[in-house]
Amino acid sequence: ENDILGKLPLRHKKVLITAGPTYESIDPVRFVGNHSSGKMGFEIAKAAANLGAEVILVSGPSHQTVAHSLINVIRVTSAQQMYEACHNYFKNVDIAVLSAAVADYRPKNIAEQKIKKKESTFTIELEKTKDILKSLGAIKKQQFLVGFALETNNELEHAKGKLVSKNLDLIVLNSLNDIGAGFGGSTNKVTFITASHEIIAHELKSKTEVAQDLMQQILKQTHA
Ligand code: CTP
Ligand code: CA
Repeated sequence: ENDILGKLPLRHKKVLITAGPTYESIDPVRFVGNHSSGKMGFEIAKAAANLGAEVILVSGPSHQTVAHSLINVIRVTSAQQMYEACHNYFKNVDIAVLSAAVADYRPKNIAEQKIKKKESTFTIELEKTKDILKSLGAIKKQQFLVGFALETNNELEHAKGKLVSKNLDLIVLNSLNDIGAGFGGSTNKVTFITASHEIIAHELKSKTEVAQDLMQQILKQTHA
């Protein structure tokens, strides 16, 4: 087929990727959200597709776009919608990489009408969203499961905790301490931690390169 040079190790493999923020409605015109651009997830999708994988990219509200015959973009808005989309596809994939910045909490009640301003202070009660990654870790079979960890302190310890509690094969620690890394920008400084607690630190790199490094690490661990 296309694999003349033997450089498409993920051909016939299915990869699920999440990207972007989620928006949690307060009323018909307002939401709780975050500044995730979706760039990292879209770069991972491209890196996987460039290795021949069939990619399902579940993205929250993001301005990112991609045109690749192997990438199917599913657009969602809320954490609940992202949860449902992921569970819809997870059973049939070989690899899942959850890089979305999912809201941890959402308004407990969504007002049916636009909320009018009244008092000088205003409180919104929030309730926990479902942890998508943890829910997939609890049911995974053949799937190689990758998560991200965004930390500002005790980074390795917190990331290792997430690796174990979410039953992951690999976690990507995203250091927000470093200048130029993280939300909005086009660079990231990451450390990979494997299920056997091997730690692989990377320099500050473009998100394109980080995505390629991540796919190489996945290939290594899955012997693909
Ligand atoms: N994640 C998820 N669903 C959620 C929250 C997080 O799938 N409701 C995933 C993220 O996509 C990421 C990983 O879990 O791959 C870790 O997200 P992070 O925000 O770093 O950790 P949390 O487990 O949410 O814990 P905390 O925010 O308290 O550090
Ligand atoms: Ca979180």
